[in-house]
Amino acid sequence: MKINHTIKGFPNQIGTYIEFPDVADLLLMPMFASASVDYVYKHGTEFQKYLIDKTPLTNKKKDVIVNAHIQFLTPSVKASIQRIGGYGNGEWHIDSSVDPFEERDICHLITTKATALTEFNANPIEVELEANMSIMDYRYFINENEDPLGIIPKKMEPNKFTTFTNHVHRATTPQKNEFRYFFRLLETDSFESSNDQIYHHSTVFTDEGYKKNIEVNEGSIMIHL
Ligand SMILES: [Fe+2]
Repeated sequence: MKINHTIKGFPNQIGTYIEFPDVADLLLMPMFASASVDYVYKHGTEFQKYLIDKTPLTNKKKDVIVNAHIQFLTPSVKASIQRIGGYGNGEWHIDSSVDPFEERDICHLITTKATALTEFNANPIEVELEANMSIMDYRYFINENEDPLGIIPKKMEPNKFTTFTNHVHRATTPQKNEFRYFFRLLETDSFESSNDQIYHHSTVFTDEGYKKNIEVNEGSIMIHL
């Protein structure tokens, strides 16, 4: 059975411009990978608490999960924080869903200014698709039909929260070496368990797989290229 489906256009960017501390300060902040929001609120810096307070939460979901870390990106690294199952890093995809038509999780993302900002499809696109299309088939369909569908990439604005659900998006290629602070707060009913611990390193997913990215230990800062 076929259904009418709208490939969502550019998501909402709500709220004001948020000023970030400089890189030296951001480097020394605790890093979190899928920690519960309460844990981050308890163990984060004043700035990280401020970011949580500024997040346009809907409070429609059971759990709130936080990823917060600084990344070092280079032109050879199209970094995202998760593996895009079956598809290469930097391909069009939707997050955290088993069903491409369901608005499962609500993601609030903010990053500092960088050349490598996440990009989204700019305008809504109407299509007819099989009702039981799998998430993998959906990704394949979008990536294989990018031009005929009229997908237009539009980068999110830095320093502002971007709120999205099953919006089509992808990581982009950095044009230079750069630091990027990445803060993502996920409202979800489907998360298995949170990972409540402080990390002293960030991790990114690159074309070669998961890589340690920046490591900060006892005053030394190591960048893994
Ligand atoms: Fe994603």
